[in-house]
Amino acid sequence: MTDTRDDDAGPGLKATATTQLMNATAPCAIVDAAEILRSGGLVAFPTETVYGLGADATNHDAIARLYAVKGRPAHNPLIAHVAEPKAAFALGIFDERARKLADAFWPGPLTLVVPSQPDCMIVAEARAGLDTVALRCPSHDTARRLLDTVGRPVAAPSANRSGYVSPTRAEHVLDDLNGTIDMVLDGGQVRIGLESTVVACLGDGVRVLRPGFILPKAIDAILGKILPASADATDTTHPLAPGQLDSHYAPHKPLRLNVSDVSGDEALLTFGQGHDDLTANALLTLPLSSTGNLVEAASRLFDALRRADQSEARSISVTPIPDHGLGLAMNERLRRAAAEH
Ligand code: TXA
Ligand code: MG
Repeated sequence: MTDTRDDDAGPGLKATATTQLMNATAPCAIVDAAEILRSGGLVAFPTETVYGLGADATNHDAIARLYAVKGRPAHNPLIAHVAEPKAAFALGIFDERARKLADAFWPGPLTLVVPSQPDCMIVAEARAGLDTVALRCPSHDTARRLLDTVGRPVAAPSANRSGYVSPTRAEHVLDDLNGTIDMVLDGGQVRIGLESTVVACLGDGVRVLRPGFILPKAIDAILGKILPASADATDTTHPLAPGQLDSHYAPHKPLRLNVSDVSGDEALLTFGQGHDDLTANALLTLPLSSTGNLVEAASRLFDALRRADQSEARSISVTPIPDHGLGLAMNERLRRAAAEH
């Protein structure tokens, strides 16, 4: 696809004239995408959680460009993605607990923050200068084949402009980054739709820094009891996940949560049934799951937020989402999205 729009590019940012949209199953897709990454380019690709914006994690210039096109603060470190757990063990120091979690959940939607190996090849900028490193081995077939072909760790934050809603479709990536990145591998809608669970294993305990599809109880089952989710991540004096302090996932329009009323100029996101009165009033309704299925609702959340944001509505309202299971991660994203920014 060809698009010459480059007006989203920030000052001093060299926009690529075109962003190539490539079907992930096309014959040359993986080889071409890997070649772009190996030569310092930026490629968005699907994972099982959200689309990531990939750059060679060992290349200073590629990482600088990645931060620039996303508009991401330099203090917020990136997750390095690898095809196989073995590659992760060469980059980070895995204690027994980290090893157990990797064995249990990789490949899959888990990111492990561990001390970096002394000879870790990931550039310091990608780690925001920290002596720890975030590592993930995704399960998505396209992501795995791409990482395997690149043969180097690939830094990949969610492929959205910093602070905006994460992308769950190739179209979302283009909406945010068209003309500023080299390629988007289109793998259709992602399966999970929320970013990976981030877990720190740093010697002083195991902490969930960001809730996600892998629930605390699944981690408990592997390790025994751990600290509650985000216990230390919200401690602003000792932030463990620097990025979690920033405004996140936020649509441009005002967002109201746990609503029991709605006005005629609002877009309404519903969970479950029994919202007929609200639906009748709303400008438009986007059902997350009419059967009250949290997995289905999570997979639709970011798409619904983006649709509501692009609609004629003045603001966005969301009916209550139960605060258990995957609802915990959904509510965490929604609270951040609704916070002042
Ligand atoms: O599902 C995902 O994790 C997606 C896909 C593409 O893999 N990626 C993603 O990346 O969500 P990003 O950059 O949007 O979020 C990474 C989170 C941030 O909150 C960041 O602060 C945290 O991981 N993080 C990265 N390195 C860290 C480190 N060394 N210590 C603590 N937190 C870290
Ligand atoms: Mg993100």
